[in-house]
Amino acid sequence: MLKNKIAYITGGTKGIGFGIARVLLEAGMKVAISGRKLENAEVSAKQLCQDTSRMLALQSDVRNFEDEVRALQQVKDYFGGVDLVVSNAGIGRFASVDELSPEAWHEMIDTNLNGVFHTLKASVELLKKSKGYFISIASLAGSHVFAQGAGYNASKFGAVGFTQAAMLDLRKYHIKVSTLLPGSVKSHFNENIPSQDDDWKIQPEDIGSLIVDIIKMDPRVLPSKIEIRPTLPKLYDN
Ligand SMILES: NC(=O)c1ccc[n+]([C@@H]2O[C@H](COP(=O)([O-])OP(=O)(O)OC[C@H]3O[C@@H](n4cnc5c(N)ncnc54)[C@H](OP(=O)(O)O)[C@@H]3O)[C@@H](O)[C@H]2O)c1
Repeated sequence: MLKNKIAYITGGTKGIGFGIARVLLEAGMKVAISGRKLENAEVSAKQLCQDTSRMLALQSDVRNFEDEVRALQQVKDYFGGVDLVVSNAGIGRFASVDELSPEAWHEMIDTNLNGVFHTLKASVELLKKSKGYFISIASLAGSHVFAQGAGYNASKFGAVGFTQAAMLDLRKYHIKVSTLLPGSVKSHFNENIPSQDDDWKIQPEDIGSLIVDIIKMDPRVLPSKIEIRPTLPKLYDN
């Protein structure tokens, strides 16, 4: 069912995006991943899949609309279109609001909110053609606030609002938009070095499996917003 379907994942060089790419490739899809540096995307792409007819590495900084336009054009030129776009690239800078720098604020808003708009805007005409799927990796921080999270919360609440409204706009074109709100996931997020201490968390491949389940659903069904938590939280209940 998913064999040879085409996916584009922003921020697929490591962490959640990398895990999603691995699961989509196992499901038979063709996958393009992007990151801020082409070298890093190429190294990750080689780790994921040696078959270059099914794997593409791209440079794109989601903060730049032109980068995303170019990346989607490259996906179209290489694979012929796109069926699934996963807007995953994101960063977290955590500090009490009185200590949060304007640079950290803007970096988060530019990446986690403006970046999602750039990716959707650059892909929407291709998704109209494929009657495709747009999935954004938001966060439980997009529905629950916490201390030292003001900037991150603002970016993710914004992203959730944006993609939920976009879902209402785009379903008339048979484009499905789903917003995923994960809790703690084992990744490199916020300078984390993944280790056994993170094994209680959701694993990146779990998010990939969830995406496969979602996109296999009957065309009449649209899971528009999904919260995902570790079953047994170790540190706190999120
Ligand atoms: N880990 C968690 O607990 C968790 C929970 C909920 C939601 N999330 C969300 O999940 C998403 C993925 O995060 P992660 O946990 O996988 O973190 P990660 O391991 O640090 O990976 C982040 C990815 O985003 C890419 N990226 C960052 N800024 C970018 C930019 N401006 N343009 C393009 N790519 C960019 C990075 O690629 P390069 O460095 O190669 O550019 C990397 O591939 C984020 O949106 C994050 O907010 C994470």
